Amino acid sequence: MEFTKEDFGEDFKWGVSTAAYQIEGAHNSHGKGLSIWDVFSQKRRAIANNHNGNTACDFYNRYSEDILLLHKLNIPNYRFSISWSRILPHGTGAINSKGVDFYNHVIDLCLELNIEPWITLYHWDLPHELEQKGGWTNREVIHWFSYFVDCCIRQFGDRVKHWMILNEPMVFTGAGYFLGVHAPGKKGLSNFLAAAHHAALCQAEGGRIIRSVRNDCKIGTTFSYSHIEPKNNTDKNVAAAIKVDALLNRMFIEPLLGMGYPDKELAILKRMERFMQPGDEGKLAFDMDFVGLQNYTREIVGYAPFMPFVKAKIIKADKRKVERTLMNWEIYPPSIYHALKRWNEYPGVKEIVVTENGAAFSDELVNENVQDVDRVNFLQDHIEQVLKAKKEGVEVSGYFVWTFLDNFEWAEGFHPRFGLVHVDFETQKRIVKASGNWYREFIKQSLLKEIPDALP
Ligand code: FCB
Repeated sequence: MEFTKEDFGEDFKWGVSTAAYQIEGAHNSHGKGLSIWDVFSQKRRAIANNHNGNTACDFYNRYSEDILLLHKLNIPNYRFSISWSRILPHGTGAINSKGVDFYNHVIDLCLELNIEPWITLYHWDLPHELEQKGGWTNREVIHWFSYFVDCCIRQFGDRVKHWMILNEPMVFTGAGYFLGVHAPGKKGLSNFLAAAHHAALCQAEGGRIIRSVRNDCKIGTTFSYSHIEPKNNTDKNVAAAIKVDALLNRMFIEPLLGMGYPDKELAILKRMERFMQPGDEGKLAFDMDFVGLQNYTREIVGYAPFMPFVKAKIIKADKRKVERTLMNWEIYPPSIYHALKRWNEYPGVKEIVVTENGAAFSDELVNENVQDVDRVNFLQDHIEQVLKAKKEGVEVSGYFVWTFLDNFEWAEGFHPRFGLVHVDFETQKRIVKASGNWYREFIKQSLLKEIPDALP
């Protein structure tokens, strides 16, 4: 390894990220209401192997030992999400005090152990009762979401100083309301455009609410980003790549920055007008303190005349004979560098935090050991690209590994393991992988400097 943690400076934030539905389990305990993922995962064949997150990593019952493990791994920043229906079982109205207690315990234990809690307000688990009223396609969601944000900031804002409004709106609206492969399983362009516009309004509105209640919090929101290239330089392929880039990489960040939807490059977004009301354009914008970058791969795009709406298709990694992860995502570390450079050029972006980066590999548990060398290499190679961007002046201030524990990977179930820590889902036993030990040592470097082994 050519670099050390010191190269990033003392203030750089190192962490790990998780999400409520992927780890908590206890899906109907202590007054929690059902979420769209609780319902979707019960449908036959919705999830690979018919898995569901009813128990997942049982973090709800094991949070103390897991947070202690974070501490043992020297991890100073922990990003997790709040399950909306654990706090508000009906999505709105009465608060479930047991749900609030749970997050209070998590937050307090983190702080006691010197671990900074970072909260994502929405990581895809809408309360089911709200979905029955149309979910993200119903404009009322702005009121429902505002109420939820207001509750959270009032309950936890005295201790939690880093907030992210949404997790990857492109993915939860695209997979959940256009393709129907994620909860709630809706399909079609109208559902997608309505959900997307309301999510874009909510990401800004959530920021305004937090700022109006407290002035001592850093507010951000997160976006997926994959560097995109045409399969070759013919005009048609280049045009296809520009459209896919507008859809996957620009559609949510640009309205937030006051630039509107990228409908010049992607004409289909003009149809968003059906869902816009007077004044919406201004309401889409909010001055975030930071933006969260979530990067896993790059995409290669080709012209596809029969593909509806975009006339473009993504050429999967296995069709290109490139190195890839278990998700069939190409391993391409420069993607994160390109993302950072490009975002840094947006005048409205003040600070970037890499809020997710990581990989699933076919980890093997041998004699209570997981030698996940490929994950260590993946992380090192990506962190090196982050450093390259930082050295070139990009305002990147943190890096969070996806993820702490092997967990429920949405439509893929438990098969792809992304964790620094192996989880046996039968016994709930945790085993730190080689990558977890590597990250612990990497993070320790500067601590060692501050606290010498032998005092004079
Ligand atoms: C991201 C999600 C996260 C996880 C990783 C692999 O898109 O935010 O929950 O599933 O992908």
